[in-house]
Amino acid sequence: VDGKFKHWNGPFKEVNAAICKPTTDVKLERISIGKIPKTGLPEALECLESSENAYDNGFGEWPMFSVEQRIFHVEKFVGEMINLRSEVVNLLMWEIGKSEKDSEKEFDRTIKYIYDTIESLKKLERKSASFTIEEGVIGQVRRSPLGVTLCIGPYNYPLNETYTLLIPALIMGNVILFKPPKHGCLLHFSLSKAIQKSFPKGVINYLYGKGNEIIEPLMNTGKINVLTLIGSSKVASDIKKAHPKVNRLRAILGLDAKNPAIVLENANLENAVEECILGSLSFNGQRCTALKILFVHENIKDEFLKKFCEKVDALKFGMPWDEKVQITPLPEEDKFKYLNDCISDAEAKGGKIMNENGAIQNGSLFFPAVVYPVKDGMKLYREEQFGPIVPIVSFTDMQEPIDYMISSNYGQQVSIFGTDTKQISHLLDGLVNQVSRVNINVQCQRGPDTFPFTGRKDSAEGTLSVYDALRSFSIRTVVATKETMENKA
Ligand code: G3H
Repeated sequence: VDGKFKHWNGPFKEVNAAICKPTTDVKLERISIGKIPKTGLPEALECLESSENAYDNGFGEWPMFSVEQRIFHVEKFVGEMINLRSEVVNLLMWEIGKSEKDSEKEFDRTIKYIYDTIESLKKLERKSASFTIEEGVIGQVRRSPLGVTLCIGPYNYPLNETYTLLIPALIMGNVILFKPPKHGCLLHFSLSKAIQKSFPKGVINYLYGKGNEIIEPLMNTGKINVLTLIGSSKVASDIKKAHPKVNRLRAILGLDAKNPAIVLENANLENAVEECILGSLSFNGQRCTALKILFVHENIKDEFLKKFCEKVDALKFGMPWDEKVQITPLPEEDKFKYLNDCISDAEAKGGKIMNENGAIQNGSLFFPAVVYPVKDGMKLYREEQFGPIVPIVSFTDMQEPIDYMISSNYGQQVSIFGTDTKQISHLLDGLVNQVSRVNINVQCQRGPDTFPFTGRKDSAEGTLSVYDALRSFSIRTVVATKETMENKA
């Protein structure tokens, strides 16, 4: 973990030379890049005890600190974190296969997020002045912490998404039990040095164990006050069920999504193709906000497919440190079986891979597959593939994509591509109450991080953003004081 391995590119040199043409001539293999000690159940329970001691029912040093004191510690941490930039960026590339450019972007976005949160908290504090409840009674709202917070980070944005949970939770006075993702745990191990230098003991405890061995027993204790994670809705609901008094548990969750793009017949095709590629295949489609199904109007379907497949086949396939790489290795070993199952299922029901290089695999590389026609009844129609497969459906009636969203288990975002304002308003009216963000002529995305990040149905619980998260991780306590002769004086 010293940042030096970046220049090791051993057997991939030949692949680099063959870039753009996915190759299977050179056999790629996974390699081990580091090991960290695993947190077993006894250690996890010790961590819980340490968190409880640090919180001490709200009487601990951290929850009792003033806002200024907590900001001081977070600022110290961000300074230490900046010193680890190159090590962490390298680990992002190695552990999860994110390109160098995107890894740097994620790091810098996280730093900005932390500074913006500090500024946002300062503003929030300035707003909480006294007000009159009724004549002679003065009210003041304080924001108080919620308690011991179990935070589970995702692998796809191990930094940005994790810190959009960790930092607001911490700065509002909560204490954290943090379980880093399996892919991405080394970079958190590296950052734990900065955490250790910056926060009092027990304020953040790391759990490097296997989720299925430690999370349920931790929840069973009933001592976790807040659950926050970005990940799957099934995992979140199982974890919640393990809490003996789930009504006492606050949950702030970013979950599954199956965001559609709707490409109308009058869409600017160049723009629609470009945005749909970015939306569906940035970071190999491993974004909760990715476009995971494209509804393309029947009248332009052939032209769209031709242009789309040509551009997909030209994507640069390779290692994260290759210049301008666009498709990189997938970190999850078991993902390949699932992706291949989705493709076989579609093929058995009449779907086809439309692009020449679709589904070429080598080691942990999987070249994107464009699958058409995708229909109801296929896995790819409803399941969140979270990987490099782009399912395409053709439609004629605008009600079809609206009905798709109404009947979906998810409700995060949608993108509409078109130039006819009447049609766009019709779709907007039909979709705005089904999702939490509608994008017009642009891909789906979370940013900027000042925007509310949430969703309907199984896509989210609570809201995150530089502003909203401060509210999500705290409770407003009102202090109402009647003026008497004595306190007036
Ligand atoms: O996986 C979900 C991420 O928060 C997506 O963020 O839309 O900025 O890529 P992004």
